[in-house]
Amino acid sequence: MQVFTEKAQLIQAVREKKSNGESIGLVPTMGALHEGHLSLVKNALLDSDQVVVSIFVNPTQFDNQADLEKYPRTLDNDLKLLEGLSSDLWVFSPTASELYDNKIHSEHFDFEGLEHVMEGKYRTGHFDGVGTVVKRLFEVITPDKAFFGEKDFQQLQIVRKLTEKTGLPVQIIGCPILREESGLARSSRNERLSSQSRQNAAFIYKTLSEVKELFGTKSAEYIHNWVSDRFKNYPFLKLEYFEIADTKTLQKIDNKVKGQEYRAFIAAYADDIRLIDNISLNN
Ligand code: PAJ
Repeated sequence: MQVFTEKAQLIQAVREKKSNGESIGLVPTMGALHEGHLSLVKNALLDSDQVVVSIFVNPTQFDNQADLEKYPRTLDNDLKLLEGLSSDLWVFSPTASELYDNKIHSEHFDFEGLEHVMEGKYRTGHFDGVGTVVKRLFEVITPDKAFFGEKDFQQLQIVRKLTEKTGLPVQIIGCPILREESGLARSSRNERLSSQSRQNAAFIYKTLSEVKELFGTKSAEYIHNWVSDRFKNYPFLKLEYFEIADTKTLQKIDNKVKGQEYRAFIAAYADDIRLIDNISLNN
C-alpha cells in the first residue's frame, strides 16, 4: 500500500495509471475508519482499477474549533484496516496547508437549496466546507468515480450538485448504510457512547423503520407528530429534527405522490453525541 502526503507525487502516479487506460476510484474520508468506510472502499475496489482513499480531517467543514480538535485521528490503525482490504490501495493523507496550498479557506457555494435544510440549518457553513474540500480533492486526484455513503445522504446529494455545477468529470456513486447488529448506523461517534447508550441509540433506526411502514397510510404531518411524541416518551435520546423529504430536492413533503422518491431523516442526541440516520421510504 502506498501512502502519499504530497499532491505532486500523487498527481504524477495518477497520470501514469490513466495513461495505461486504468480507471481511478476515490473514497474521501476523515479517517477514524470503521466498517462503514471500509464498505465504500470494497465497492470502489470492485469497480475501479486503482482506488485512492483520502484521509483528511478537513478544518473548513467544522463549525466549531472544539469539534475539530476533538475529532479522532487514528492514522496508524486506519492504515492497518486498509492494508487488510488490499495492499494495492493508495492513501492520500495531506496536511491542510499542502492540500489548500497554504491558503486554508472555504468557498461559498449555491447548492440550490440543498444546503439550507436539515444539517445545513444546524451546522452553519458546514456544506461550504464539504464542497470546498471535495472540489479540491477532485481537482487534485481527478478520479473517474467517487464513492460516498448514504449515511450522509444530504452530503451525497450536495456532492452530486457540486459536480453538476462545476462540470468536474467525476461520477458519484452512492453506497448503502452499514449498520451495527442493533440497527444503529455505523459511525466513529458510536465509540464515544456508553454501552447502554449505544443500545438505546438503536431507537433511531427502529423509529425510521416504523416510519417506513406508516408512510403511505398516514400523512407526513401525522407521522411528524407520531415521531416527536415517540421521542418525548423516550428519555434516552433528544430529537433535533425529523423530516420526510423528496430525495432529489431534500425539501419537506406533505403527502406521498406516486412515482416520487422520499426519505425520512433523523438527527438526535445520545449522551450529548449527535447522531444522524435516514431511510428510503420507497422500497
Ligand atoms: P467521514 O465522516 O469520514 O465519512 C466518509 C464517508 O464514509 C462518507 O461518504 C460517509 O457517508 C461514509 N460513511 C460513514 N459511515 C457510514 C456507514 N455507516 N455506512 C456507509 N457509509 C458510511 O463524510 C466525510 O467524512 C467528510 O464530510 C468528507 C466527505 C470526507 C469531506 O471531508
